[in-house]
Amino acid sequence: MTAPPEHAPRRVPSGEACAVAHPNIALVKYWGKRSGPGNLPAVGSISMTLDGMTTRTRVRFLGAAGDDRVCLDGADADAKTARRVRALLDRLRSLAPEAGAAEVESSNDFPTGAGLASSASGFAALLVAAESALGLHLTDDDRSRLAREASGSAPRSLHGGFVEMACGRSDDGRDAVARPLLAADDWPLKVVVAVIREEEKEIGSGEGMQRSLATSPYAGSWIASHPADLEDAREAIRTRDFARLAAVAEASCLKMHALAMSARPGILYWRGATVEALHAIVALRQEGLDVFFTVDAGPQVKAVCTEASLPRVRARLSDLPGVRRLIVCPLGRGARLLRPGEDAAGSPESRRREGA
Ligand code: DP6
Repeated sequence: MTAPPEHAPRRVPSGEACAVAHPNIALVKYWGKRSGPGNLPAVGSISMTLDGMTTRTRVRFLGAAGDDRVCLDGADADAKTARRVRALLDRLRSLAPEAGAAEVESSNDFPTGAGLASSASGFAALLVAAESALGLHLTDDDRSRLAREASGSAPRSLHGGFVEMACGRSDDGRDAVARPLLAADDWPLKVVVAVIREEEKEIGSGEGMQRSLATSPYAGSWIASHPADLEDAREAIRTRDFARLAAVAEASCLKMHALAMSARPGILYWRGATVEALHAIVALRQEGLDVFFTVDAGPQVKAVCTEASLPRVRARLSDLPGVRRLIVCPLGRGARLLRPGEDAAGSPESRRREGA
C-alpha cells in the first residue's frame, strides 16, 4: 500500500457529509493495470466528466467501533462493493483514528455497474464526502491517489470537463494522478448515452482488463501505441479540433474492445443494438454532423457531438430498435460537497432526460 498522505491538516470534523459526483467517459481508454498496489494503470487515459448522471453519497462516522454499513441504491451493497468501500474508508480512517464505523448511503440516478462508470462517480463522491466528514484537508494529488486505489477511473471524476489520468512511472503510484486539461465551458460538447441494457455487466472492468492484458496477443501493441493516442487527443482538445478528437477516440475505443475480444476466453461487451448504434453514428458523420462514438465496458453507446448536431443525433439514436432510452449530458463539474438542502442537479439542463 502507498503510505497515507502525510501532514493532512484537520478541520473540525462534522462526522457527516454528503457529496455528489458524475461519471466520466474515456476518450482514450484506460484498460490494464501495471504491477504494484492500488490500481496502477498500465496506460494513461483522457476523459470527459458528464453532468447528466449523478451519484449522491452520504457518509456518517459514528465515533465508535463496529462494522461499516454500506447501502447502495436503497439496498445493502454486495460483499465486493462493501469491501472496496471499506478499503477506502480505512485509508482515510488511518488519518482520523477516532472516526469509528461509518454508515454510507449512495444512490445513482442511472444504471449501476452497466458500463456507465458508476464506480468512478461512486468512489469520487465517497472520497469527497468522507474527507469532509472526517475534517481532513487533502491535496488534489492525495485525493487522486486515494480515489485511484478504489477504482482506476475514479480520479478523473474528481475534476470537471476534460481530464487526463497519468499512467505514472513510480512504483508507489505517486505520479499516477488525474489533472484537468480543459474546463467544460471552454468546449461545451454534448454526450448522448444510448442505454441498451440496464442490467449489470457479467464481466467487471477489473477482471476484463486483467484477462485482456494477460492473454490477448495484442496486449503489447495496446501499450506501445497508447502514448501517441494520448498526445493526439491532448492536442485535439487543446485546439478544439473535433475531427481529430473523433478519429483518436473511435480508434482507442475499437482498440480496447479488440483487445477484450481477443482475450482468452474472449470478452464481448457489445449487444446487437450496440453495433447498430455505432453504424448510425458513422452514417451521421458521413452526412456532415460533428459526432463520434465511444463504448466502455458494457453495451451502452455514447455519442459525443456538438450542440448544433445534437437534435439529429438524438432523433437518429432514439429511432433505433434496441435503444431503451437516451440520456443527454452536457459536460459537467467535478465531485463536490452538497450543503444541506442543496440540489445535486444544478441547472435544469444538466438533468435533461427523455425516453427513447
Ligand atoms: C472501459 O475504472 O472501472 O471504462 O480500476 O478496476 O476499478 P478498476 O476499473 P474501472 O475501468 C474503466 C474501464 C473503462 C475505460 C476507462 O474508463 O478509461
